[in-house]
Formats: sequence, structure tokens, C-alpha cells
Amino acid sequence: MKIKVDGQTVERRAVWWEDGKVWMIDQRQLPFRYSEVSFSTPAEVGQAIKDMVVRGAPSIGVAAAYGVALDLVCCEQLFTENEMGAFLEETFQALNTRPTAKDLTTALDIVGSTIQKVFRDEGMERAREVALEAARWFDNETVRSCELIGEHGAELISDGAKVLTHCNAGALAAQDYGTALAPIRKAHEQGKGLFVYVDETRPRNQGARLTAWELSNEDIDHRIIADNAAGFYMSKGEVDLVIVGADRVVANGDVANKIGTYEKAVVAKENGIPFYVAIPWSTFDPGIASGEDIPIEERDDEEVLTTFVELDGKVQRLRCSDPSSQGLNPAFDVTPARFVTGYITPEGVLTAEDLAKRLS
Ligand code: MRU
Repeated sequence: MKIKVDGQTVERRAVWWEDGKVWMIDQRQLPFRYSEVSFSTPAEVGQAIKDMVVRGAPSIGVAAAYGVALDLVCCEQLFTENEMGAFLEETFQALNTRPTAKDLTTALDIVGSTIQKVFRDEGMERAREVALEAARWFDNETVRSCELIGEHGAELISDGAKVLTHCNAGALAAQDYGTALAPIRKAHEQGKGLFVYVDETRPRNQGARLTAWELSNEDIDHRIIADNAAGFYMSKGEVDLVIVGADRVVANGDVANKIGTYEKAVVAKENGIPFYVAIPWSTFDPGIASGEDIPIEERDDEEVLTTFVELDGKVQRLRCSDPSSQGLNPAFDVTPARFVTGYITPEGVLTAEDLAKRLS
């Protein structure tokens, strides 16, 4: 993605490997301040994922993949096969700090199994090299998938369309292009006029802070709306289609995504508005039959009771609720497949039946 920093445009992914460290754009500081941070151990990367320095399912996956590489590249020990298994297991536990995003375990499975195979066949030295190669492959594959999602999804956006999106499913969340934002970017590039309603996405305001920042960077016309305003615009016929990303799509097509997605999907159906879910294959979880079994992350209620503001040049949290009350903070909800018009994938726009066929 292209980012304007101090009057200059730089090209960055959300997460990258440089000088033997894992680097991230610090998403907690945006849009007020652009900063980059680096991490040297899997435990640090796991903590950064938990604290949401990096967030968004595909970017979390890439961070985890590089986290494994970090451990192998820096470790000078020579292992037996059993020791390597235990070593990787410990690394995975340090990195697996958010339960809903499927991409995280997809990345760990892919990188882990590649390392194990090469370790068995070619030994420790080659396993070290391949750890980084596998993480880079996962990173590039994420970007390539999102570019394809953009191409297929742009066909759904006609000139002059008004699109509503929830949370941030942009380049920050998926290394580059984004999932839900990829079709929007592509349609804009193709010269189509379009307008985006950006749900603010309480409690962490990923829409108001991150999606709006990405759209501003690319001069894509948009307005931030209160989460509660989405139904108002949908009922007025002001929204042509809704596109969201996902943290996990399971075998029957049920979708876990940022809290509030379910409500948008129900209101879209009520108003005859198409509702699309954009996903790379790393988000698809054929091992879970239906949405009921998706693990939903419960986060600290401080996120609900406070809000982020910029004060004295720093991003700070201020209380915005009754000081004697506590909150509840489920980070995701599940939208049943019957509310989803189509899944925008790297292979095209598919139905839930198409997803099921992919399994057989
Ligand atoms: O809690 P977050 O900010 O990690 O939640 C992110 C989302 O819900 C995104 O919509 C989802 O990961 C898709 S990202 C391409």
C-alpha cells in the first residue's frame, strides 16, 4: 500500500521481515501518527497480535508466519525430530494469541508443516532457510489473493455505486489491497465513481480510524457513519451493496467477522441489498461445520468503556461511560450463510453451495 508520511509516499505492507526482525505498522497509533515497530521473538510478536499492533485476519496470519521464522532463524541449537516438534509447538502457543481469525492457524500449519518436512528430508540448516521462505510465500500469496479478490469484486461495483463496509478489511488488515477494500480500490482504479459508507466500528473504531485513513490516502470518496446509522441509509435506498471481510468462514458458509456485521447483514437482506463477504482461502475453515462452533474472542471491557482520542500528540484512551459500570465486549459475531449473497474469493464470486462443493 502507498502511504503518505511527512510529505513523502512510501510503499509498505502491514507486516514485513527486515534485518532479522519482524516489523509492523503500529495500527494502534493510526490515523493520528504513523510509526513502525520491530519485534525479535515469537513471544513479542504474539503479544503484538494480542495488543492489536497488527490486526485483521490475513495480516495476523502473516505476522505469525514470520514469528515462526524468527524463532528458527535465530535458534542455533540442533534438534532431534522430537525436539523440533516440541520447539515448534511452543512457538505456536506463543503466537496463537487471538482465537477467531482462521488465517493465524492456517499460517502456522503451512509454515510448520513445511519446516517439519524439510527438517526430516534435508536437516536443520535447510529447515532454517525454509522457515523464512515459507513465511515469505504466505505473505506473497496473501497479497496475490487479495489482488484477485479485487479484480473479481470490482465487477460487482457499477459506476456511481454506493458501498457500505464494516470494520477495516483493507490493506492494513491484509498486507496490501485488503479483502473488502480490494474491490473498492480496483473499481476506483478503473475510473468508476463510487462512494463508501464507513461504519465507525465501535469499540475500537477500526472503520473510523483505519478504513477512513486508507480511503483518504487514495482519494476515494467516503463518509464515516455511526454504526447505528447503517440501517437508516439502507432503508432509504442509499446503499447499493455491502462488502465486508471475515475472520473465519466455515463449511456451511457461516461467517465470523467484526461485531456488528450480523446486524448489517440482516438489515441488508430486509432491504433487498446484496451482502458480499470477501475472503482469501486462508480464512476458510472447512473443519468447522457451522458458525455455532466458531470460537469468539471476548476482549477487555475497557475497550467499550473508553474511547481513543489524540491528546497532546499521543493516542490515549478516555473514559466515555458511567465510571461505576462494567461492560461486555465480544469482538466478533456470526452471520449465517442465508444472509450472504456471495463470497468474493480469488477464484471468483461463489455461493455457499460452491464453497461446499470445493470440499467434496
Ligand atoms: O479485531 P480485528 O480488528 O482484528 O477485526 C478485523 C475484522 O473483523 C476484519 O473485518 C477481518 O479480519 C477481515 S480483514 C481482511
